[in-house]
Amino acid sequence: MLTPHPDGGGTPARMTAWVEGTVHALRQWTDRLYSLQVEADIAPFKAGQFGRLALDIDGERVARPYSFVNGPDNPLHEFYFIVVPGGPLTQRLAQLKAGDTVYVAPRAAGFFVLDEIPDAGKLWMLSTGTAIGPFLSILATNEVWSRFPRIVLVHAVRTRAELTYADTIRSLLDAHPGQLDYIPFVSREETDIGLRGRVPDAIRDGSLETRAGLTIDAKDSQVMICGNPAMVSDTQAVLTERGMQKNRRREPGQITTEQYWKT
Ligand SMILES: Cc1cc2nc3c(=O)[nH]c(=O)nc-3n(C[C@H](O)[C@H](O)[C@H](O)COP(=O)(O)OP(=O)(O)OC[C@H]3O[C@@H](n4cnc5c(N)ncnc54)[C@H](O)[C@@H]3O)c2cc1C
Ligand SMILES: NC(=O)c1ccc[n+]([C@@H]2O[C@H](COP(=O)([O-])OP(=O)(O)OC[C@H]3O[C@@H](n4cnc5c(N)ncnc54)[C@H](OP(=O)(O)O)[C@@H]3O)[C@@H](O)[C@H]2O)c1
Repeated sequence: MLTPHPDGGGTPARMTAWVEGTVHALRQWTDRLYSLQVEADIAPFKAGQFGRLALDIDGERVARPYSFVNGPDNPLHEFYFIVVPGGPLTQRLAQLKAGDTVYVAPRAAGFFVLDEIPDAGKLWMLSTGTAIGPFLSILATNEVWSRFPRIVLVHAVRTRAELTYADTIRSLLDAHPGQLDYIPFVSREETDIGLRGRVPDAIRDGSLETRAGLTIDAKDSQVMICGNPAMVSDTQAVLTERGMQKNRRREPGQITTEQYWKT
């Protein structure tokens, strides 16, 4: 059996053995944002990893990587996706209904996991759009709460309606007062919540740290960045200017990233 390539590309769909999953529910948040719950007998995964979903479209099995939103202890798998205009798979995923079949890769993959992150006083979780998913999975573990005294979850979206999973986040905030902070960013709408604009700009001008009441520093911070590749690279560049560097197994740093597509 082949393991999907960790970067989410790579393994041709035809070479992967697939598990037949059953759609439990499809939740629609906005005209283009959905959460898909799937029952599938797959191997255990680590919070922050991604699986692969596939459908047969015009005689071909079309597969894409999706981060798990559920914690590893929750057997009902959840994936949060946006329908991309012209995107082959997402248009079809959005049409699924309870009881339908969706193929799921038998094993998860990816290194966007706590095992790869050194201990620190502060864990910054920076996401755009659907990339809040892996952070919600990580926040469902006990490990993250025992290892990081302060955690800041940042969710950057275009419009306020895209600030999804509010109930889940509210429960986490209630369960971990003083340990978790949630800072939304809305870029294309005036709103009365969160910060306006983009994450790297708010790091550069200090407004993110002011809002959190915490510094982002090489000495005591770990920063996980996930989502839009331009946001990932722009944010990494700002942090590098501050003397932070990428986490590597042999050379621990402070920055850990995952990009959802290639630029
Ligand atoms: C490791 C990894 C994990 C991923 N996890 C998720 C996830 O949890 N949720 C999710 O929605 N997508 C996720 N993606 C992207 C996903 O695999 C698909 O690319 C996406 O769902 C679009 O599929 P498609 O076949 O419709 O279009 P594609 O042909 O795959 O994509 C077309 C274009 O759509 C844009 N795009 C792709 N994904 C997104 C996105 N998430 N948000 C905004 N624009 C996007 C890009 O410009 C891309 O070039 C992940 C990708 C990787 C590499
Ligand atoms: N969300 C929608 O209403 C909408 C509407 C039409 C089409 N789409 C399609 O949906 C996909 C986009 O989905 P999405 O809105 O979830 O993702 P997105 O385009 O990645 O935007 C999410 C957030 O990331 C920010 N961002 C983008 N580039 C950045 C950078 N270099 N540095 C920092 N932040 C950055 C955006 O800010 P900015 O707003 O400043 O870019 C936005 O706040 C695309 O395929 C698009 O064609 C979405």
